[in-house]
Amino acid sequence: MPNPKSKAQETCTLTLPVRQGTVGPAVLDISKLYSEHGYFTYDPGYAVTASCESAITYIDGEKGILLYRGYPIEQLAEKSTFLEVAYLILNGELPTQSELDRFSDAIWHHTLINESLLRFFNGFHHDAHPMAMLTGVVGSLSAFYPDTQDFRDPTRQTLFSQRIIAKLPTIAAAAYKHSVGHPFVYPRNELGYANNLLHMLFALPTEEYTVNPVAAQALDLLFILHADHEQNASTSTVRLAGSSGTNPYAAITAGIGCLWGPAHGGANEAVINMLTEIQDVKNIPRYVARAKDKDDPFRLMGFGHRVYKNYDPRAKIIRSMTYKVLENLGHRPDPLLDLAMKLEEIALRDDYFIERKLYPNVDFYSGIIYRALGIPTSMFTVMFAIARSVGWVAHWCEMVNDPEQRLGRPRQLYIGPGRRDYVERSQRSGKS
Ligand code: SDX
Repeated sequence: MPNPKSKAQETCTLTLPVRQGTVGPAVLDISKLYSEHGYFTYDPGYAVTASCESAITYIDGEKGILLYRGYPIEQLAEKSTFLEVAYLILNGELPTQSELDRFSDAIWHHTLINESLLRFFNGFHHDAHPMAMLTGVVGSLSAFYPDTQDFRDPTRQTLFSQRIIAKLPTIAAAAYKHSVGHPFVYPRNELGYANNLLHMLFALPTEEYTVNPVAAQALDLLFILHADHEQNASTSTVRLAGSSGTNPYAAITAGIGCLWGPAHGGANEAVINMLTEIQDVKNIPRYVARAKDKDDPFRLMGFGHRVYKNYDPRAKIIRSMTYKVLENLGHRPDPLLDLAMKLEEIALRDDYFIERKLYPNVDFYSGIIYRALGIPTSMFTVMFAIARSVGWVAHWCEMVNDPEQRLGRPRQLYIGPGRRDYVERSQRSGKS
């Protein structure tokens, strides 16, 4: 067996066990690769590395397929509701009406946040980014719920899951109200999940506020589409943080921080900023050229995906609903929507994007709908976090209950200096 430390690019032939899931690529079990063969594997960004077994979500990137617990996203988008999908993702089966009623009732009884938490917002400047406020306040929940240290107890896992799903909208709305200097609006549990959030965002104590049912339906659908997505960066962050046994609210906070990045959940905000900067159809060729220029860090935000090498099925659904939502809300077509459609048309005809299989992803059109609902751009990733909280808690529960899971601790290919002895300061040459 060649010495794994040799520098030359060598090849080696190994016999490794193969594991096959229900559907999708089989995996090479490399858990004994180092102990039996003296090798690590090298896969920057874990593009082809399965970190765990999971029964929650399946994605086929080549075919543009997304299944939550086996159900196609297209059918759930058409027939289900966000809380029903949350139940499905958490429990593995679609609920009966009484199961859904009990689940919804449990969520409603956790929508309030401790009054002390509300005072946290006074510590932020009014122009603090809502994702910064969400990260700070959700991270503080671990101070209010220390009892979750014994989280192997299934009832505590359920309680944690319900608290996160129920409280994120309340915390998100409080962040928005703080940013606009309006008084906080308490949750109204009889309204339903999306209606309640819109009410907390836009109601004022000075007058009655009636939620537009079209807006609530559009938001509920966006939440279904964003609820889970296999081992994406933020979900993997929640799993990795959770694998140390930390308080699960701290693990969720780590996921929120990861989601904020423009390469991940922050892309929906970046898409609107990009379209606003492009401003006119005549500028599209210049920005497409920049996106193709290796010397220019600019990328088409909302385009490309680590897994989808076909149209993101979620983007397809959002794209088809956008015009209808704008029309039903009585809005004129958003000029940014026309610009986005034209940008997509031009990019998808360009060899650079065709060869690399770069298509619009979930973030490309979602911001257009959030804008139509009156949600400010800085709140777009917060909306993503609210929906993805379902996937985060489901994967955290799956991880803590998985007998194969252990502390996540990747290795590396070391390329630094070999062993060397200390040099007295007077003997050092240095650069200056
Ligand atoms: C989400 O993982 C998930 O499931 C995420 C998500 C979820 O639900 O959790 O789906 C949500 O995060 C969607 C992605 C949102 N991000 C963006 O829209 C940001 C713009 N997209 C890119 O930054 C990029 O496409 C990534 C980060 C999404 C994926 O990058 P990869 O997999 O690391 O691919 P890559 O960088 O290796 O790209 C391959 C090639 C490169 O060119 P070459 O070196 O081969 O010449 O494609 C190019 C890249 O330069 N490329 C782009 C591009 N995306 C990839 N070129 C221009 N514009 C782009 N957007």
